[in-house]
Amino acid sequence: MKIVTIIGARPQFIKAAAVSRAIGRYNDQTSNSEHRTLNEVIIHTGQHYDEGMSAVFFRELEIPEPLYNIGIGSGPHGQQTGRMIEAIEKLLMTEKPDWVLVYGDTNSTLAGALAAAKLHIPVAHVEAGLRSFNRRMPEEINRVLTDHLSTLLFCPSQVAVDNLAAEGISSKRAPDSSPLTPQILVVGDVMADALQFAANKVDTNSDILNCLGLKPHHYLLATIHRAENTDNPERLGNIMSALSELAKREPVVLPLHPRTKKILTASHPSVLVSDSLLRIIEPVGYFDVIALARSSRVILTDSGGMQKEAYWLKVPCITLRDETEWVETVETGWNVLTGADEKKISNTAQNFTPPAEHPSLYGDGQAAKRVIDILVERTADMRK
Ligand code: UD1
Ligand code: UDP
Repeated sequence: MKIVTIIGARPQFIKAAAVSRAIGRYNDQTSNSEHRTLNEVIIHTGQHYDEGMSAVFFRELEIPEPLYNIGIGSGPHGQQTGRMIEAIEKLLMTEKPDWVLVYGDTNSTLAGALAAAKLHIPVAHVEAGLRSFNRRMPEEINRVLTDHLSTLLFCPSQVAVDNLAAEGISSKRAPDSSPLTPQILVVGDVMADALQFAANKVDTNSDILNCLGLKPHHYLLATIHRAENTDNPERLGNIMSALSELAKREPVVLPLHPRTKKILTASHPSVLVSDSLLRIIEPVGYFDVIALARSSRVILTDSGGMQKEAYWLKVPCITLRDETEWVETVETGWNVLTGADEKKISNTAQNFTPPAEHPSLYGDGQAAKRVIDILVERTADMRK
């Protein structure tokens, strides 16, 4: 059975690492007959390409080397997505996989799903059903379209299943009645698997707190990269002012996404050379970011992945957005939406007392195994 995995952006490397590891385990445990072995072919779209945005994750998380890197790089949405589709289509026609596996909501996700669906290759979408209900987000467009193109929709929670149902996507017929009939499954979140893998390795693989001279629980960790923040000067200005204000009291570490760095270099160059406790650093690898996250007092972020990591690590989270897909984290009281409201960000960060309750969310760290078991089972059904 052949699976083509299509990835291209930082969070996808982290998610795919968990599933590639589950494929490896499956192959180790299964007899070596060619029929039963899973052959994963990785296509890297090249959407992210800096060492600190791509290669570091392959190294740290032991992700198999992509067979193809189509090197699309940066560009406007239509150009970037269109070039990806063209290149992926050619590779899929050569590789003829049983499945195309895509993750999350980036342009690489949509390009992979579209190229596959037009070739009648079933698409499996990991992190299906997430919605912000904000169609101005490129990610929302990518998610909606990818879900509507997918055969296997792997959801992290019941909320995601309900979102799909509201759009008319449900497991309507017997799953084996057609190779392309949608099937929706709650498997949990593969990012929990990734975090469990890293948790055992952070102590020996990260010295970042020492390097930055940080005392555990006496600093804040921030990340900013969403277009709605970076591309809106007022929002970005407010967020940076709030972080600068907070940095008068305690260190604020900001590993800066290249998108944000490019914009700040043009619009707020003084922030980048500031000598306050606002510590702007290059993006860090996974072990370093988890080391920083787990010992921070509060995380301030517009990242999807980091909202969940904050929750799993029991660190209060401030989400610098007006809405979130990860609504359960807000409902529990561990995540507060502040948008780009300077005062609200600052006040919430200073006064955040997390609730005593911390219910389990998004699975048990075994999502990747479920994804693989279901893919194998569904393939067997399709071949009957
Ligand atoms: C993309 C995803 C977003 C995801 C994020 C994860 C889309 C539409 N957006 O946003 O959903 O949350 O990745 O980080 O797919 N750049 C570099 N070096 C790199 C990569 C990017 O310098 O290795 C710069 C380029 O100037 C580029 C800009 O960052 O134009 C934006 O990159 P792009 O991949 O288009 O979008 P992200 O903002 O990274
Ligand atoms: N991350 C990282 N280094 C950093 C910042 C973030 O490894 O400098 C990790 C973070 O812990 C999470 C993932 O990248 O696992 C999230 O990616 P990102 O925020 O770029 O995208 P999103 O999740 O918002 O799509």
